[in-house]
Amino acid sequence: MDNFDRRILVTGGAGFIGSHVVRRLLKNYPNYLIVNADKLTYAGNLANLTDVQKLKNYRFEKIDIVNLQAVKEVFQKYHITDVIHLAAESHVDRSIEGPMEFVMTNVVGSVNLLQTAKDNWKSGDHVFHHVSTDEVYGSLGHTGLFTEKTSYDPRSPYSASKASSDHFVMAFYHTYNLPVKMSNCSNNYGSHHFPEKLIPLMIHNIQHKKPLPIYGKGDNIRDWLWVEDHASAIETIFHHGRIGESYNVGGLNEWTNIELVNYLCQLMDEKLGRNNGESASLITYVTDRAGHDKRYAIDASKLENELGWKPSITFEEGLSKTVDWFLSNQEWVDKVTSGSYKEYYEIMYGGR
Ligand code: NAD
Ligand code: DAU
Repeated sequence: MDNFDRRILVTGGAGFIGSHVVRRLLKNYPNYLIVNADKLTYAGNLANLTDVQKLKNYRFEKIDIVNLQAVKEVFQKYHITDVIHLAAESHVDRSIEGPMEFVMTNVVGSVNLLQTAKDNWKSGDHVFHHVSTDEVYGSLGHTGLFTEKTSYDPRSPYSASKASSDHFVMAFYHTYNLPVKMSNCSNNYGSHHFPEKLIPLMIHNIQHKKPLPIYGKGDNIRDWLWVEDHASAIETIFHHGRIGESYNVGGLNEWTNIELVNYLCQLMDEKLGRNNGESASLITYVTDRAGHDKRYAIDASKLENELGWKPSITFEEGLSKTVDWFLSNQEWVDKVTSGSYKEYYEIMYGGR
């Protein structure tokens, strides 16, 4: 069909993490064709990829992975050799409001992709890389880390749908020898992050002097990783990970939500020339998330020991870069905080 070494279908490439993965692959591998297949839900935004959209090795297809026929057509049109699957409904609060969209995209959509890959790849060198989350492992107590051997214990509709897709991925490996790889990552942050998630929401509200909603007591713990380090981990696992294996990805970087928001307030007071403590006065404790997982923390030593991957920057550096990106990309922020997101914001936060 052409001279490309691989023809990779990246699903969800217009989303937060997907756009970083697409950009990285396009730049590092001009000999790969990258086909970005995305439904462009509220979370998908082609403005995330304006800097690379004219590259010769990039194609975009607006498809819904729940539509099996559409998935089959894209596979055939581009003679797809590999899949990196990121498309998903990704926000826990939305899954509590309405789980069915999560079942459709995260479970049915994933099985459509697996089935189509299985039917098309009868022989040759292929990889189906499924991008998953640490939330499938459930919630940790004060100590311990999630390893690849931790039993699955999903507790939200979102994590239950991701756990289900992970099981299907491994079932296709064991049953049909589909060449799968899987990664389970902790919380990401960085540029192009949709401002319904904690860090970009807080940056937006601090900038506009709006209340900063902290669920419950603010003592839930998350392990934060810079999105570009997640993209580099996916690149590494896709190329060098072992078939049939899963790899945990994380930065050993645990923060309680309240510590994190206080740190962000301090950082933004400095950047915006405000008095120290001004932004922290916006902190407002609100009703807790239903079934709120207490703590996530990842042991990424398998990835580090086997494949030599490590995060490239500290959280303090990454957060500073992230705040700078949001402050200097106002047009991007204005676009995504209007429309459907605005309605959602009104429902979730009562217009605060
Ligand atoms: P996101 O919500 O920002 O992006 C999801 C993308 O998928 C969007 O572009 C959306 O349009 C697309 N999409 C949704 N439904 C689709 C469908 N039916 N057909 C085709 N495209 C569809 O999500 P994200 O935060 O970038 O997460 C990407 C992946 O990484 C997800 O699978 C998520 O579970 C996983 N993950 C996310 C994090 C995190 O912290 N954000 C951490 C670990 C793993
Ligand atoms: O761990 C990986 C997961 O991280 C991904 O699989 C998910 O796709 C991603 O959304 C993220 O899930 P979380 O639920 O941890 O992220 P979120 O940004 O929604 O919330 C982070 C923490 O902050 C969580 O404890 C809830 C809390 N929170 C969140 C929001 C939006 C608040 O206190 N206030 C808020 O307004």
